[in-house]
Amino acid sequence: MSLLRKRHPSTGGKRAVPALRLSLSLMLLMLCTPLAAERLVVAGGAITEVIYALGAEDQLIAVDSTSTWPPEARNLPRVGYVRALPVEGILALKPDRLLVAPEAGPERALRQLERVVPVTRITSAWEPDAVVERVRQIAELLDRREQGERLASQLEQEFAEIERRLPLDRQPRVLFLLATGGHGLLVGGRDTQAQALLDALQLPNAAEQIEGFKPLNAEAALALRPELIVVAETAEGAFRLEDWPALQQTPAGRSGRVLVRDSMFLLSFGPRLPQAMEAVLAAARGRDGRTAWLPR
Ligand code: HEM
Repeated sequence: MSLLRKRHPSTGGKRAVPALRLSLSLMLLMLCTPLAAERLVVAGGAITEVIYALGAEDQLIAVDSTSTWPPEARNLPRVGYVRALPVEGILALKPDRLLVAPEAGPERALRQLERVVPVTRITSAWEPDAVVERVRQIAELLDRREQGERLASQLEQEFAEIERRLPLDRQPRVLFLLATGGHGLLVGGRDTQAQALLDALQLPNAAEQIEGFKPLNAEAALALRPELIVVAETAEGAFRLEDWPALQQTPAGRSGRVLVRDSMFLLSFGPRLPQAMEAVLAAARGRDGRTAWLPR
Protein backbone atom coordinates (compact mmCIF):
# COMPACT_ATOMS: atom_id res chain seq x y z
CA MET A 1 0.00 0.00 0.00
CA SER A 2 2.73 2.44 0.95
CA LEU A 3 4.55 1.59 -2.25
CA LEU A 4 1.43 2.30 -4.31
CA ARG A 5 0.90 5.62 -2.52
CA LYS A 6 4.41 6.68 -3.38
CA ARG A 7 3.76 5.92 -7.03
CA HIS A 8 0.55 8.00 -7.02
CA PRO A 9 1.27 10.87 -4.64
CA SER A 10 -1.17 13.22 -6.35
CA THR A 11 -4.13 10.92 -5.75
CA GLY A 12 -3.53 10.83 -2.03
CA GLY A 13 -3.78 7.09 -2.24
CA LYS A 14 -7.28 7.07 -3.79
CA ARG A 15 -6.14 5.23 -6.93
CA ALA A 16 -4.30 2.80 -4.79
CA VAL A 17 -7.33 0.53 -4.43
CA PRO A 18 -7.79 -0.30 -8.15
CA ALA A 19 -3.99 -0.45 -8.51
CA LEU A 20 -3.81 -2.81 -5.58
CA ARG A 21 -6.58 -4.94 -7.10
CA LEU A 22 -4.65 -5.05 -10.35
CA SER A 23 -1.41 -6.09 -8.66
CA LEU A 24 -3.23 -8.70 -6.56
CA SER A 25 -4.79 -10.11 -9.72
CA LEU A 26 -1.38 -10.16 -11.35
CA MET A 27 0.05 -11.96 -8.34
CA LEU A 28 -2.78 -14.49 -8.41
CA LEU A 29 -2.25 -14.97 -12.13
CA MET A 30 1.45 -15.55 -11.54
CA LEU A 31 0.69 -18.08 -8.80
CA CYS A 32 -1.71 -19.96 -11.05
CA THR A 33 0.31 -19.67 -14.23
CA PRO A 34 2.16 -22.88 -15.00
CA LEU A 35 5.91 -22.69 -15.12
CA ALA A 36 5.89 -23.47 -18.83
CA ALA A 37 8.40 -20.81 -19.79
CA GLU A 38 10.61 -20.78 -16.73
CA ARG A 39 14.28 -21.69 -16.63
CA LEU A 40 14.52 -24.43 -14.06
CA VAL A 41 17.19 -25.87 -11.82
CA VAL A 42 16.22 -29.30 -10.51
CA ALA A 43 17.53 -31.05 -7.40
CA GLY A 44 16.35 -34.66 -7.44
CA GLY A 45 16.88 -37.22 -10.17
CA ALA A 46 13.27 -38.46 -10.19
CA ILE A 47 12.00 -34.96 -10.99
CA THR A 48 14.47 -34.66 -13.85
CA GLU A 49 13.31 -38.02 -15.22
CA VAL A 50 9.69 -36.92 -15.15
CA ILE A 51 10.56 -33.63 -16.90
CA TYR A 52 12.27 -35.54 -19.71
CA ALA A 53 9.38 -38.00 -19.94
CA LEU A 54 7.01 -35.03 -20.35
CA GLY A 55 9.20 -33.54 -23.08
CA ALA A 56 9.86 -30.38 -21.05
CA GLU A 57 13.65 -30.79 -20.84
CA ASP A 58 14.27 -27.54 -22.77
CA GLN A 59 13.44 -25.71 -19.56
CA LEU A 60 16.27 -27.34 -17.62
CA ILE A 61 19.31 -25.16 -17.17
CA ALA A 62 21.01 -27.32 -14.53
CA VAL A 63 20.42 -30.43 -12.43
CA ASP A 64 21.95 -32.09 -9.37
CA SER A 65 24.28 -35.09 -9.43
CA THR A 66 21.47 -37.62 -8.86
CA SER A 67 19.97 -36.60 -12.21
CA THR A 68 21.63 -39.42 -14.10
CA TRP A 69 18.67 -40.57 -16.22
CA PRO A 70 17.98 -40.33 -19.09
CA PRO A 71 21.64 -40.36 -20.19
CA GLU A 72 21.24 -36.94 -21.91
CA ALA A 73 20.64 -35.41 -18.47
CA ARG A 74 24.30 -36.07 -17.69
CA ASN A 75 25.25 -33.41 -20.25
CA LEU A 76 23.47 -30.64 -18.35
CA PRO A 77 25.40 -28.32 -16.01
CA ARG A 78 25.59 -29.77 -12.47
CA VAL A 79 24.81 -28.04 -9.18
CA GLY A 80 26.17 -30.57 -6.66
CA TYR A 81 24.38 -33.25 -4.64
CA VAL A 82 20.69 -33.03 -3.71
CA ARG A 83 21.41 -33.50 0.03
CA ALA A 84 24.22 -30.91 0.01
CA LEU A 85 23.06 -28.10 -2.28
CA PRO A 86 25.47 -25.21 -2.86
CA VAL A 87 23.63 -21.88 -2.59
CA GLU A 88 26.12 -19.71 -4.51
CA GLY A 89 26.55 -22.17 -7.36
CA ILE A 90 22.79 -22.35 -7.91
CA LEU A 91 22.17 -18.60 -7.70
CA ALA A 92 24.99 -17.93 -10.15
CA LEU A 93 22.90 -19.66 -12.81
CA LYS A 94 20.09 -17.14 -12.26
CA PRO A 95 17.27 -19.68 -12.51
CA ASP A 96 13.63 -18.55 -12.58
CA ARG A 97 12.76 -21.38 -10.22
CA LEU A 98 14.09 -24.39 -8.37
CA LEU A 99 12.23 -27.69 -8.25
CA VAL A 100 13.47 -29.73 -5.32
CA ALA A 101 12.86 -33.26 -4.08
CA PRO A 102 11.80 -33.86 -0.45
CA GLU A 103 15.30 -35.11 0.40
CA ALA A 104 16.88 -31.85 -0.84
CA GLY A 105 18.95 -30.00 1.70
CA PRO A 106 20.46 -28.86 3.90
CA GLU A 107 17.36 -26.99 5.08
CA ARG A 108 19.50 -23.90 5.81
CA ALA A 109 20.60 -23.79 2.15
CA LEU A 110 17.01 -24.15 0.96
CA ARG A 111 15.88 -21.27 3.17
CA GLN A 112 18.68 -19.08 1.83
CA LEU A 113 17.72 -19.96 -1.72
CA GLU A 114 14.04 -19.28 -1.02
CA ARG A 115 14.91 -15.69 -0.13
CA VAL A 116 16.20 -15.08 -3.65
CA VAL A 117 14.44 -17.47 -6.00
CA PRO A 118 11.08 -19.28 -5.96
CA VAL A 119 11.55 -22.85 -4.76
CA THR A 120 8.88 -25.47 -5.42
CA ARG A 121 9.09 -28.49 -3.16
CA ILE A 122 7.85 -31.55 -4.98
CA THR A 123 5.86 -34.00 -2.86
CA SER A 124 7.50 -37.16 -1.60
CA ALA A 125 6.75 -40.44 -3.30
CA TRP A 126 7.55 -43.68 -1.53
CA GLU A 127 4.61 -45.67 -2.94
CA PRO A 128 3.49 -46.44 -6.47
CA ASP A 129 0.33 -44.32 -6.12
CA ALA A 130 2.39 -41.36 -4.93
CA VAL A 131 4.74 -41.75 -7.91
CA VAL A 132 1.74 -41.38 -10.21
CA GLU A 133 0.52 -38.37 -8.22
CA ARG A 134 3.94 -36.75 -8.45
CA VAL A 135 3.93 -37.16 -12.24
CA ARG A 136 0.60 -35.35 -12.32
CA GLN A 137 1.89 -32.61 -10.00
CA ILE A 138 4.95 -31.91 -12.14
CA ALA A 139 2.92 -32.09 -15.38
CA GLU A 140 0.48 -29.56 -13.95
CA LEU A 141 3.28 -27.23 -12.90
CA LEU A 142 4.86 -27.36 -16.33
CA ASP A 143 1.56 -27.15 -18.22
CA ARG A 144 2.05 -30.61 -19.74
CA ARG A 145 -1.20 -32.13 -18.52
CA GLU A 146 -1.80 -34.29 -21.58
CA GLN A 147 1.66 -35.85 -21.54
CA GLY A 148 1.36 -36.18 -17.76
CA GLU A 149 -1.95 -38.00 -18.00
CA ARG A 150 -0.52 -40.39 -20.59
CA LEU A 151 2.51 -41.19 -18.42
CA ALA A 152 0.38 -41.43 -15.26
CA SER A 153 -2.05 -43.94 -16.76
CA GLN A 154 0.77 -45.99 -18.27
CA LEU A 155 2.37 -46.20 -14.82
CA GLU A 156 -0.96 -47.08 -13.21
CA GLN A 157 -1.36 -49.99 -15.60
CA GLU A 158 2.18 -51.23 -14.97
CA PHE A 159 1.74 -51.06 -11.20
CA ALA A 160 -1.60 -52.87 -11.40
CA GLU A 161 0.00 -55.60 -13.48
CA ILE A 162 2.78 -56.09 -10.92
CA GLU A 163 0.35 -56.04 -8.01
CA ARG A 164 -1.68 -58.84 -9.61
CA ARG A 165 1.37 -61.10 -9.17
CA LEU A 166 1.84 -60.33 -5.48
CA PRO A 167 2.56 -61.69 -2.99
CA LEU A 168 5.07 -64.23 -4.22
CA ASP A 169 4.47 -67.80 -3.03
CA ARG A 170 7.85 -67.72 -1.34
CA GLN A 171 9.23 -64.42 -0.13
CA PRO A 172 12.99 -64.30 0.48
CA ARG A 173 14.41 -62.21 3.31
CA VAL A 174 16.05 -59.27 1.56
CA LEU A 175 19.07 -57.31 2.71
CA PHE A 176 19.11 -53.94 0.95
CA LEU A 177 22.46 -52.17 0.70
CA LEU A 178 23.31 -48.70 -0.55
CA ALA A 179 26.85 -48.63 -1.94
CA THR A 180 28.07 -45.03 -1.81
CA GLY A 181 31.59 -44.19 -2.88
CA GLY A 182 32.62 -42.20 0.23
CA HIS A 183 30.26 -43.58 2.90
CA GLY A 184 30.93 -47.25 2.13
CA LEU A 185 28.04 -49.69 2.43
CA LEU A 186 24.86 -48.56 4.16
CA VAL A 187 22.10 -50.98 5.19
CA GLY A 188 18.57 -49.90 4.31
CA GLY A 189 16.46 -50.27 7.43
CA ARG A 190 12.97 -49.03 8.37
CA ASP A 191 11.80 -45.67 7.07
CA THR A 192 13.98 -45.69 3.97
CA GLN A 193 13.25 -45.86 0.26
CA ALA A 194 14.70 -49.39 0.40
CA GLN A 195 12.03 -50.42 2.89
CA ALA A 196 9.40 -48.68 0.74
CA LEU A 197 10.45 -50.64 -2.34
CA LEU A 198 10.32 -53.93 -0.44
CA ASP A 199 6.92 -52.98 1.02
CA ALA A 200 5.61 -52.30 -2.50
CA LEU A 201 6.72 -55.82 -3.42
CA GLN A 202 5.48 -57.37 -0.17
CA LEU A 203 8.97 -58.68 0.57
CA PRO A 204 10.44 -58.87 4.08
CA ASN A 205 13.35 -56.58 4.94
CA ALA A 206 15.98 -58.65 6.77
CA ALA A 207 17.18 -55.41 8.43
CA GLU A 208 13.81 -54.01 9.51
CA GLN A 209 15.01 -53.66 13.12
CA ILE A 210 17.46 -50.98 11.90
CA GLU A 211 16.19 -47.41 11.52
CA GLY A 212 17.26 -45.45 8.42
CA PHE A 213 20.42 -46.07 6.39
CA LYS A 214 23.20 -47.30 8.71
CA PRO A 215 26.79 -48.39 8.02
CA LEU A 216 26.98 -52.11 7.39
CA ASN A 217 28.39 -54.25 10.17
CA ALA A 218 29.32 -57.27 8.08
CA GLU A 219 29.21 -59.74 11.00
CA ALA A 220 25.76 -58.49 12.03
CA ALA A 221 24.62 -58.84 8.41
CA LEU A 222 25.66 -62.49 8.50
CA ALA A 223 23.34 -62.99 11.49
CA LEU A 224 20.44 -61.50 9.48
CA ARG A 225 20.65 -64.52 7.13
CA PRO A 226 19.46 -62.70 4.00
CA GLU A 227 18.32 -64.94 1.17
CA LEU A 228 18.61 -62.15 -1.37
CA ILE A 229 20.94 -59.15 -1.30
CA VAL A 230 19.97 -56.10 -3.36
CA VAL A 231 22.68 -53.49 -3.81
CA ALA A 232 21.93 -49.95 -4.96
CA GLU A 233 25.13 -48.35 -6.29
CA THR A 234 25.53 -44.57 -6.42
CA ALA A 235 28.37 -45.09 -8.89
CA GLU A 236 28.90 -48.08 -11.13
CA GLY A 237 31.37 -50.53 -9.59
CA ALA A 238 30.99 -49.10 -6.05
CA PHE A 239 30.12 -52.59 -4.78
CA ARG A 240 32.25 -55.73 -5.11
CA LEU A 241 31.10 -58.86 -3.29
CA GLU A 242 34.69 -60.10 -3.11
CA ASP A 243 35.43 -57.21 -0.71
CA TRP A 244 32.84 -58.55 1.76
CA PRO A 245 33.67 -62.12 2.88
CA ALA A 246 30.91 -62.04 5.55
CA LEU A 247 28.28 -61.27 2.89
CA GLN A 248 29.59 -64.16 0.82
CA GLN A 249 28.81 -66.44 3.76
CA THR A 250 25.13 -65.47 3.93
CA PRO A 251 22.53 -67.73 2.26
CA ALA A 252 22.22 -65.06 -0.47
CA GLY A 253 25.98 -64.88 -0.98
CA ARG A 254 26.38 -68.66 -1.07
CA SER A 255 23.64 -69.11 -3.66
CA GLY A 256 24.74 -66.08 -5.69
CA ARG A 257 21.46 -64.22 -5.19
CA VAL A 258 22.91 -60.73 -5.28
CA LEU A 259 21.28 -58.10 -7.45
CA VAL A 260 23.37 -55.00 -8.15
CA ARG A 261 21.72 -52.02 -9.83
CA ASP A 262 22.05 -48.26 -10.08
CA SER A 263 20.77 -46.50 -6.95
CA MET A 264 18.59 -44.03 -8.84
CA PHE A 265 17.04 -46.88 -10.82
CA LEU A 266 16.13 -48.76 -7.64
CA LEU A 267 15.42 -46.02 -5.12
CA SER A 268 14.43 -42.77 -6.78
CA PHE A 269 10.72 -43.62 -7.13
CA GLY A 270 10.56 -42.01 -10.55
CA PRO A 271 8.98 -43.21 -13.80
CA ARG A 272 11.27 -46.28 -13.87
CA LEU A 273 9.78 -47.67 -10.65
CA PRO A 274 7.85 -50.44 -12.48
CA GLN A 275 11.10 -51.69 -14.08
CA ALA A 276 12.89 -51.50 -10.73
CA MET A 277 10.09 -53.50 -9.10
CA GLU A 278 10.27 -56.08 -11.90
CA ALA A 279 14.05 -56.42 -11.46
CA VAL A 280 13.79 -57.06 -7.71
CA LEU A 281 10.80 -59.33 -8.22
CA ALA A 282 12.70 -61.44 -10.76
CA ALA A 283 15.63 -61.71 -8.36
CA ALA A 284 13.28 -62.61 -5.50
CA ARG A 285 11.59 -65.28 -7.54
CA GLY A 286 14.85 -66.71 -8.82
CA ARG A 287 15.09 -69.50 -11.31
CA ASP A 288 13.91 -72.78 -9.74
CA GLY A 289 14.17 -71.06 -6.40
CA ARG A 290 17.82 -70.24 -7.08
CA THR A 291 19.33 -67.54 -9.20
CA ALA A 292 22.72 -67.63 -10.78
CA TRP A 293 24.84 -64.53 -10.11
CA LEU A 294 22.62 -61.73 -11.26
CA PRO A 295 24.20 -59.60 -13.96
CA ARG A 296 24.33 -55.84 -13.62
C1 HEM B 1 23.48 -40.80 -8.41
C2 HEM B 1 23.08 -41.10 -7.20
C3 HEM B 1 23.72 -40.61 -5.93
C4 HEM B 1 24.87 -39.90 -5.73
C5 HEM B 1 25.83 -39.36 -6.77
C6 HEM B 1 25.02 -39.77 -4.30
C7 HEM B 1 26.06 -39.10 -3.68
C8 HEM B 1 26.20 -38.97 -2.33
C9 HEM B 1 27.22 -38.19 -1.69
C10 HEM B 1 28.28 -37.37 -2.42
C11 HEM B 1 27.02 -38.28 -0.36
C12 HEM B 1 27.82 -37.59 0.73
C13 HEM B 1 27.14 -36.28 1.00
C14 HEM B 1 27.67 -35.56 2.19
O1 HEM B 1 28.45 -36.13 2.94
O2 HEM B 1 27.22 -34.42 2.38
C15 HEM B 1 25.88 -39.13 -0.15
C16 HEM B 1 25.35 -39.45 1.08
C17 HEM B 1 24.19 -40.15 1.27
N1 HEM B 1 23.32 -40.57 0.31
FE1 HEM B 1 23.61 -40.39 -1.67
N2 HEM B 1 23.96 -40.36 -3.67
C18 HEM B 1 23.15 -40.88 -4.64
C19 HEM B 1 21.96 -41.55 -4.46
C20 HEM B 1 21.41 -41.82 -3.24
C21 HEM B 1 20.18 -42.53 -3.04
C22 HEM B 1 19.32 -43.10 -4.17
C23 HEM B 1 19.96 -42.58 -1.71
C24 HEM B 1 18.82 -43.19 -0.95
C25 HEM B 1 17.64 -43.33 -1.40
C26 HEM B 1 21.05 -41.90 -1.07
C27 HEM B 1 21.18 -41.76 0.30
C28 HEM B 1 22.27 -41.19 0.91
C29 HEM B 1 22.47 -41.21 2.34
C30 HEM B 1 21.53 -41.82 3.36
C31 HEM B 1 23.67 -40.55 2.57
C32 HEM B 1 24.40 -40.37 3.92
C33 HEM B 1 23.65 -39.54 4.86
C34 HEM B 1 23.84 -38.07 4.66
O3 HEM B 1 24.98 -37.61 4.77
O4 HEM B 1 22.82 -37.38 4.43
N3 HEM B 1 21.89 -41.44 -2.03
N4 HEM B 1 25.39 -39.53 -1.36
